[in-house]
Amino acid sequence: MDDWWGRPIAAVLPRLFLDHFHRTSLVAEDGDGLAGFVIGFLSPSEPDDAYIHFVGVAPRLRGGGLARSLYRRFFELAASEGRTRVKAITSPANRGSIAFHTALGFAVAGPVPDYDGPGVDRVVFERPL
Ligand SMILES: CC(C)(COP(=O)(O)OP(=O)(O)OC[C@H]1O[C@@H](n2cnc3c(N)ncnc32)[C@H](O)[C@@H]1OP(=O)(O)O)[C@@H](O)C(=O)NCCC(=O)NCCS
Repeated sequence: MDDWWGRPIAAVLPRLFLDHFHRTSLVAEDGDGLAGFVIGFLSPSEPDDAYIHFVGVAPRLRGGGLARSLYRRFFELAASEGRTRVKAITSPANRGSIAFHTALGFAVAGPVPDYDGPGVDRVVFERPL
């Protein structure tokens, strides 16, 4: 993940997400290995909401529609289980993520100051399903 993101990021995806959210997460592979993934879940506390924690596509495959395809599948899964809204966040510096979510039809709010604690601003995405 650190290679894919170009900075230390692996700590944001601890094993618990793979152990406990794999039913609503997606992995894409090709002949060269891992191609991309989406880690998402249906909120246990907010019955209308689905949430995407992380999306990543191998640098060699970016720009080819893989993340859009993974998101579309997650939207279908979430809607089929009664969810009406999908949410996600990103760091204000992640221009690629903001552009991607905008292209996918998400409303973009922020940066919201102190969203994840003092000094940790976040851009907030929301899209109806
Ligand atoms: C963001 C990321 C997942 C996009 O994956 P991808 O497979 O290249 O995206 P897609 O090819 O499906 O693009 C879908 C749309 O988003 C747009 N988009 C994606 N990345 C973009 C970027 N860096 N800049 C501008 N637009 C971008 C595409 O132009 C496309 O729009 P279009 O269909 O209207 O032409 C990928 O760049 C990535 O893994 N980045 C590093 C990890 C990361 O930052 N993840 C998000 C935060 S958790």
